[in-house]
Amino acid sequence: MSNTLQIRNVQVEYPVADAKLFKAVEDVSLDIAEGEFVCLVGTSGCGKSTLLNVLAGLLQHTSGSITLGGESLKGQPSNRRAMVFQSAALLPWRRAIDNVSYGLEVQGVDRKVARARAQEMINLVGLSGHEQKFPGQLSGGMQQRVNLARALVTNPDLLLLDEPFAALDAQTRRLMQEELVRIWQERPHTSVLVTHQISEAVFLADKVAVLTRGPARVKEIVEIDLPRPRDPSVFRDPKFRAYEERIWDLVVAEGVAI
Ligand SMILES: Nc1ncnc2c1ncn2[C@@H]1O[C@H](COP(=O)(O)OP(=O)(O)OP(=O)(O)O)[C@@H](O)[C@H]1O
Ligand SMILES: [Mg+2]
Repeated sequence: MSNTLQIRNVQVEYPVADAKLFKAVEDVSLDIAEGEFVCLVGTSGCGKSTLLNVLAGLLQHTSGSITLGGESLKGQPSNRRAMVFQSAALLPWRRAIDNVSYGLEVQGVDRKVARARAQEMINLVGLSGHEQKFPGQLSGGMQQRVNLARALVTNPDLLLLDEPFAALDAQTRRLMQEELVRIWQERPHTSVLVTHQISEAVFLADKVAVLTRGPARVKEIVEIDLPRPRDPSVFRDPKFRAYEERIWDLVVAEGVAI
């Protein structure tokens, strides 16, 4: 497909004290096809967020290359890429729908068009009826739904999610995982999601990239050959359990708890 994301030998170093550099990502190569869902797992501090920030254009890699559809991704963040963080980064003084339309308004999209598109996204994430509420009037799960709608509204070529459900209680998290599967199946965006929950990775992903302990390299890529469309019954599939155990073993072999 044309819009393949190619990550080639990416290395990332942070400037630290005494003009030294700290290597957070050693050498990561990964191909992500258009519309594919990839999860990154690895021990705490191995470089997952660093890699995601580089993909978002929020941080520069020190060597290697990243291309999307053959075009270099080095440089500024752009509306071709959207990021969802662990805690919802919503504007507290704007209503849910206005938070969603904000990105389009910034792009100069006509306000009426932006509102209509925002409403469509609100409906997609299951928030119709709540669009007039302010973030402070929404539950954590609802706020993350707004966050997701906000990321999807510009129809990005690349959707990046850094532990988007980590702050939610177990029940809401599970519901949001099911919602994300449904949303992605309705609108398959090329997606990279970081998680510490291996069952979440297996449920969502076409492939799971297991990273080594930091500085990160790709230890193994596990293709998740479970049928789509997926629904929660897949959690009970023995194949699902086998993937979970295999990935767990790979992560734990890195020697640090996740
Ligand atoms: N701004 C920074 N300056 C220097 N070092 C940093 C900076 N940000 C992160 N690091 C270091 O880079 C390494 C990778 O950090 P990163 O946040 O990418 O890990 P992570 O895999 O996302 O961890 P976690 O699972 O805990 O979120 C860590 O050793 C961290 O201390
Ligand atoms: Mg992180």
